[in-house]
Amino acid sequence: MNRRQFIGVAGLSGLGASLAGWHLASQPGENEVIARKLDQQLLGEDYPYTALWGFNDSVPGPVLRKTQGDTLSLTFKNRLSQPSSIHWHGIRLPNNMDGVPGITQRVVKPGEDFQYEFALPDAGTFWYHPHVATYEQLGRGLYGALIVGERERVDVDRDELLVISDLHLDQSAQIPGNFKNLHDASHAGRLGNTVLCNGQKVPTLRQVRPGERIRLRLVNASSARIYRLRFDGVAPLIVAMDGHPCAPQIMGETLYFSPGNRYDFILDVPRLSGGLTLRDEFFPMMPNLLARFEVKGSPVAARSGFAGLPPNTLPPFDDRSAEKVDLVLEGGALSEKATREAIWLLNGRGNDHDSLLDSHENHPDPLFECRSGQTIHCRIDNRTAWFHPMHFHGVVLQEKQADGRWGPYRDATLVWPFKTSEIRFVTERPGEWMIHCHVSEHHHSGLMGTFRVGDVCTTKQRPWVTTAWGSDTTA
Ligand code: C2O
Ligand code: CU
Ligand code: CU
Repeated sequence: MNRRQFIGVAGLSGLGASLAGWHLASQPGENEVIARKLDQQLLGEDYPYTALWGFNDSVPGPVLRKTQGDTLSLTFKNRLSQPSSIHWHGIRLPNNMDGVPGITQRVVKPGEDFQYEFALPDAGTFWYHPHVATYEQLGRGLYGALIVGERERVDVDRDELLVISDLHLDQSAQIPGNFKNLHDASHAGRLGNTVLCNGQKVPTLRQVRPGERIRLRLVNASSARIYRLRFDGVAPLIVAMDGHPCAPQIMGETLYFSPGNRYDFILDVPRLSGGLTLRDEFFPMMPNLLARFEVKGSPVAARSGFAGLPPNTLPPFDDRSAEKVDLVLEGGALSEKATREAIWLLNGRGNDHDSLLDSHENHPDPLFECRSGQTIHCRIDNRTAWFHPMHFHGVVLQEKQADGRWGPYRDATLVWPFKTSEIRFVTERPGEWMIHCHVSEHHHSGLMGTFRVGDVCTTKQRPWVTTAWGSDTTA
């Protein structure tokens, strides 16, 4: 057990806890994650505290730090006034630890606890969040990072984490309700007006020295916002995506960063630099400054080259025996297919995640079933006017790139409006796993389904799928 690291984490989250401490029933124990209300000053001293929901009295929640191969074991305590759960985004774990109520576990009701315990097979940058009413629970502050360290030391001067999110705040810095509104659900989701970096509006100022090598980890914990990242003052190397190492590549001018995504960068601070900034320019007319690094102090000896992070051991693809699966996304504002009940459709069906909690009858049939160890080639056809970052639980995927080759490992694919995305993955552990858009409002208004991995010999896609796999695909 990593006692020291947990204590470090508690220190970080101390502000909320110390202010509210007298009223709280108990401080979180070492291996506890408690979801409950808190007040936190997000906008700086001149602004009121914002009433939030968070894990262990802070937003973002504690950074859970482990080492590859460790077991994560903790008690989740739901002290909210609504049901919840924790999903461990990107972690390859047994199905019953995946945190999806109605599918992989019973919902954790207010006042109840749930024990999560699983091994961590992969090193990398991961995160955790509830999988119930995500649009509201994420949108009120329930998210945190899970960092799984490599077994061997990675040679950097600093390891920095930026958890990026956006909240909707009114004039008095409070979160207006109105989470389940038709407009947000049928358009791009709920876009907040306040972009936060590690829970702060004022972008984090850190002093870095010329020549230093920084490993910068980014987590997009926003309910809906897609960022288009741009660095100024440095040319970063991308060394991991969604937790998994990739061949180091110099980042292009900008980079899309969807809800749920993570990137690990290597930043070598230039010797002559006025400072480094990280910005978002998804909407060019409404850019956001995300973080600023101040360069100060005496230079340190710069390193050259970066060999890459040690790869995780993932199941091999077998493209010759690959099975094909089609996913078709329809609906949304401007579409005739959209109804009030199902704004979005995945293969002709709109599923409401929230309704799964109440009754097993609402449980939709899986989109497809297959054996474990099966290579799946999946084409996602976005027939809507909106972006959908489609996230797959329980597997690691690769996207087909413009040149026809398979790209780096990821756990989601951003499907552009009226475009298709082709991915491949190998099914792993048995059970029923989710596929959903990580724009939370889309996820909860139709864009979700599951696939079942189990003792079936042939891959079966459900009959309501009417599309044919195009002839332009390759094995
Ligand atoms: Cu971030 Cu279903 O996941
Ligand atoms: Cu996930
Ligand atoms: Cu979507």
